[in-house]
Amino acid sequence: METPPRPEQPVTLPTFAPVLELDPVAYDRMASDVRSLLGIDLAQYKPAQVWRRVNGFATARGLPNADALVARARQDPSLRQAFVDMLTINVSEFFRNPEAWDVLVAQYLKLMLLGQLSVRIWSAGCSLGFEPFTIAMLSREIAPHTPVYILATDLDETVLARARKGVYAEAQMAGVSPARRARFFRRVDNSWEAKPELQALITWRRHDLLRDPYEKPFDIICCRNVVIYFTEPAKVELYNRFRESLRPGGVLFLGATESIPNVRAVGLVPSGLTFYNRP
Ligand SMILES: C[S@@+](CC[C@H](N)C(=O)[O-])C[C@H]1O[C@@H](n2cnc3c(N)ncnc32)[C@H](O)[C@@H]1O
Repeated sequence: METPPRPEQPVTLPTFAPVLELDPVAYDRMASDVRSLLGIDLAQYKPAQVWRRVNGFATARGLPNADALVARARQDPSLRQAFVDMLTINVSEFFRNPEAWDVLVAQYLKLMLLGQLSVRIWSAGCSLGFEPFTIAMLSREIAPHTPVYILATDLDETVLARARKGVYAEAQMAGVSPARRARFFRRVDNSWEAKPELQALITWRRHDLLRDPYEKPFDIICCRNVVIYFTEPAKVELYNRFRESLRPGGVLFLGATESIPNVRAVGLVPSGLTFYNRP
């Protein structure tokens, strides 16, 4: 029997986690172990935040430090996965920040779906698939017949494998109205499975935003709540690459608390709180 998907829990650090000074030697050792063990390159992540999270995570599991955590993770596949989840923070939900989706629909998605022959959208850092399925539902509601290509990518193979299945526990369906559940999902045991109509729109792919080439052109790129722990130079590089991947007139859609400080330097034009246009 298949294991039902785990409901996503926000990653909370224990309050008793010591606030540790960054130890550069130990940090480099941990980063090198993380690269070989988990395939995650931390070179462009903010070390102080990563160090705090790693040590909080180790403490919460009764381990004295990052070295002990790495040693245990080598032996224990479930700890290894929890370590990846903690580093990549794959918490997400359907229609996350609904007001931002309302703006996307009103200002961009409707016009594109009703005015173009086809629409190409990239959900970069898609986690368990809530975001690409949200896009798929909106697209089918607005224009049931317009061809839509949704590329859904993530660094983490495990979340991607679960996203591909499109099966969600009741607790994960909070953002999906009864009408949308009835139209786009079917009941399987105690879970909800996205119908093939949605699945058909989405192409899933493992992709590291910091290392891999970017596909193009896109009308919309959603990269929400992904770059929080990236260094500033890494973010600038990423935004430049997103601009290159957008078609002129395309839009970059960021998370509710994210913004691009020096936006003109990356050749984008702000359009509302979390939207940026390629001129
Ligand atoms: C908090 S989730 C965001 C999910 C969704 N975009 C949302 O806003 O709800 C962040 C996701 O970014 C992914 N991620 C982190 N670093 C990444 C990288 N370098 N390349 C691609 N994805 C990455 C994580 O694996 C995680 O699934």
